[in-house]
Amino acid sequence: MSAQTTISLARGAPSLDLVPVDELREAADRAFSSHPEHCFSYGPAAGHPLLVEWIAARHGVTADQVFATNGSMQADAFFFQELVEPGDLVVVEAPTYDRTLLMLRELGAEILAIPLEADGLDVGALERALDAGARPRFAHVIPNFQNPAGCTLSREKRERLLALARRYDFLIFEDDPYVEVRFAGEPLPRIFDLDAERRHVVYVSSFTKTVCPGVRVGYVLGDSELVARLRRRATNTYISPCVASQGIVAEFCRGGGFERALERVRSALRERRDALCDALREHLPEARFVVPEGGYFLWVDLPDGDVRALEPAARERGVVVVKGTDFLLEGGKRSLRLAYSAEPPERLREGVARLAAAYRELSAVSR
Ligand SMILES: Cc1ncc(COP(=O)(O)O)c(C=O)c1O
Repeated sequence: MSAQTTISLARGAPSLDLVPVDELREAADRAFSSHPEHCFSYGPAAGHPLLVEWIAARHGVTADQVFATNGSMQADAFFFQELVEPGDLVVVEAPTYDRTLLMLRELGAEILAIPLEADGLDVGALERALDAGARPRFAHVIPNFQNPAGCTLSREKRERLLALARRYDFLIFEDDPYVEVRFAGEPLPRIFDLDAERRHVVYVSSFTKTVCPGVRVGYVLGDSELVARLRRRATNTYISPCVASQGIVAEFCRGGGFERALERVRSALRERRDALCDALREHLPEARFVVPEGGYFLWVDLPDGDVRALEPAARERGVVVVKGTDFLLEGGKRSLRLAYSAEPPERLREGVARLAAAYRELSAVSR
């Protein structure tokens, strides 16, 4: 199967047709000509001043509570490096984003993985662990359209989780790159906003899933003292973030491009989600999944087999998927993460047909 025909149900990134290339070029022109001093020198560790200002206004926080980074992954890394000592206990969702798991393990964190339910983290299970003596440094949650599971933390659970963070004095790390990619249902409050005292939540988001990954712009919101510590770490790492890129995003947002990008991404992703779900119902009716109300991913549970065999068999047939086992410390061998962000609807349908053929072939062999 040639590389050209390979269909990616693996890539959690927008396809190029969703990227507002012309508007970004115009934004770059404006950024470079109107504020060259902010784009072409080392910037402040906090990030490009106009971007910091736009983010602060959008979230109703002060500029000293904002820190713009090179993608949200960089924000995650600075936060983890700042807080985690070897042996520290950290709560994560099971399953969770594979890079989060990797980073935490590299830092020597002890991981307490709490299962996800259709409405997000099993907060009751976390409460039992806390009552039994678990004392985490923080709980990492992806509240909206979770990567990889696609589910969303309910409002009631957001409040219960915050109450637990206050009672047991740990931080919530709200990793939220998908929040704006909601195409069905009602938006829910950020846990960061529920925490009126702004003491128990660190919020991280990104322009990757709404504008494009290539700009590498993400940001942190938090208590100004913690933000200052993270900025110091950033200065010592890279002097300043990529302010040229942040200037482009700032002009793009200030010119109304962000709202237009959201409309475009939401409507395309809704169509792609529908195509993927319909194709699964048609070709793999035995597959179980929660239909996501937004985001990029869908988590599929299969009744039989092992995805460690299915993944290479699917690749042979020209479709790439990610194994559930990649997102868990244990288990996941009957699960897959399917992304509907990187391919148009007709290729998603074809991808599922190929995946189903690989699944049937393996089932026939094992019988
Ligand atoms: C939950 C989560 N956090 C962080 C990231 C990293 O995003 P960025 O491109 O902003 O570094 C991703 C990307 O897939 C993600 O799913």
